[in-house]
Amino acid sequence: MTTYRITIEPVGAEVACREDQTVLDACLREGIWLPHACTHGTCGTCKAEIVDGEVDFGDASQYALLESERAEGCALLCVAKPRCDLIVEGEVDAEEGVDIHPVRDHSGVVGSLTDVAPEVRRLIIDLDTPLAFNPGQYVQLNVPSGEQRPYSIASTPAEPNRIELHVKRSPGGLATDGWIFQSLAVGQRVTLSGPYGRFSFRSARSEPILLLGSGTGLAPLKSMLKHLVETGSERPVVLYHGVATEAHLYDHEWLQSVAADHDWFSYRPALSRDSWQGRTGRIPDLLAQDYPRAAGRVAYICGSPAMVADTVKALMKARLFPRDIYREDFFDSADRASGATLVRGPLIRR
Ligand SMILES: Cc1cc2nc3c(=O)[nH]c(=O)nc-3n(C[C@H](O)[C@H](O)[C@H](O)COP(=O)(O)OP(=O)(O)OC[C@H]3O[C@@H](n4cnc5c(N)ncnc54)[C@H](O)[C@@H]3O)c2cc1C
Ligand code: FES
Repeated sequence: MTTYRITIEPVGAEVACREDQTVLDACLREGIWLPHACTHGTCGTCKAEIVDGEVDFGDASQYALLESERAEGCALLCVAKPRCDLIVEGEVDAEEGVDIHPVRDHSGVVGSLTDVAPEVRRLIIDLDTPLAFNPGQYVQLNVPSGEQRPYSIASTPAEPNRIELHVKRSPGGLATDGWIFQSLAVGQRVTLSGPYGRFSFRSARSEPILLLGSGTGLAPLKSMLKHLVETGSERPVVLYHGVATEAHLYDHEWLQSVAADHDWFSYRPALSRDSWQGRTGRIPDLLAQDYPRAAGRVAYICGSPAMVADTVKALMKARLFPRDIYREDFFDSADRASGATLVRGPLIRR
């Protein structure tokens, strides 16, 4: 297998990259943290200029990397593979208080697989080797067909050998309908890599926290909240969890118990389809009611791209600055095919 040398400018870092490996993967495994979010050529976060050399552009979405950008020498590093030695102009993504954990391959055994809500499964994987990560980050699960799918880690770094994932079934979906909701069973061995993503808890920030998730978008927010409990934080936290019906609320009792035990935490579940004794409506609408002004807080949003986009808009209308908003969009193949993924505020960090 041929290996090429990749130089990342302006820092001058050098990594070796196999011809079948993406440039981003080679960098993340060496602890060189370049901007990335979806790692599937969909969101455009990893776009960078190839200053010298040639790449195979890989499976870059035509919406995330325009023909004109390719012609100008840009590539999406999460899918681009080297064809020779390269010089890449990349913004190395180091931020105070955010630990850098090099990506590693892991293997583990399914410890439990539980239906926690309609079409939602909790998957616990007992890993052979510890996985170091920041609360909020995700892993790429290797699907038997050879593809990878990202899933946010719902557990915390305090349990590095046992990770928890929350998976929603996508009708006709390769990983979910075709595997996790079909043949995957307790005791089976799975492989994955990680950690990925920069949607992670910013411990250096001291502002009150808004955690805003829909559906399985609760997963990384649960990791952040549990981490705050474990580390004895008393920073004010409000968590909104938006789902369709009461049956879709999961981890409801645990969240209620955290709220009962800690006066710094407020839990606000909401249903968008059914009425019940609690609140109804979508998170962006509830935020507009609860926070005419949201300035002075830091928000973490996670869920479907449409929910994330609408929530960002609601927060910005309430005068929260883009620098105070972190987002994780759960893109899937349908979003990717439609190009809907690129509807985003220009300044919001993924
Ligand atoms: C950073 C990140 C973190 C994520 N974390 C989570 C998580 O914690 N929990 C979670 O549940 N999900 C998460 N996701 C989403 C997850 O990675 C998968 O996308 C999701 O589980 C669907 O995978 P799948 O293989 O089953 O479906 P896919 O095969 O990807 O298909 C998804 C849907 O699109 C349709 N489809 C497939 N191809 C096309 C096409 N060409 N045109 C139109 N429609 C098409 C399918 O029929 C299906 O309905 C995350 C995504 C990202 C980017
Ligand atoms: S991280 Fe490369 S396109 Fe999303």
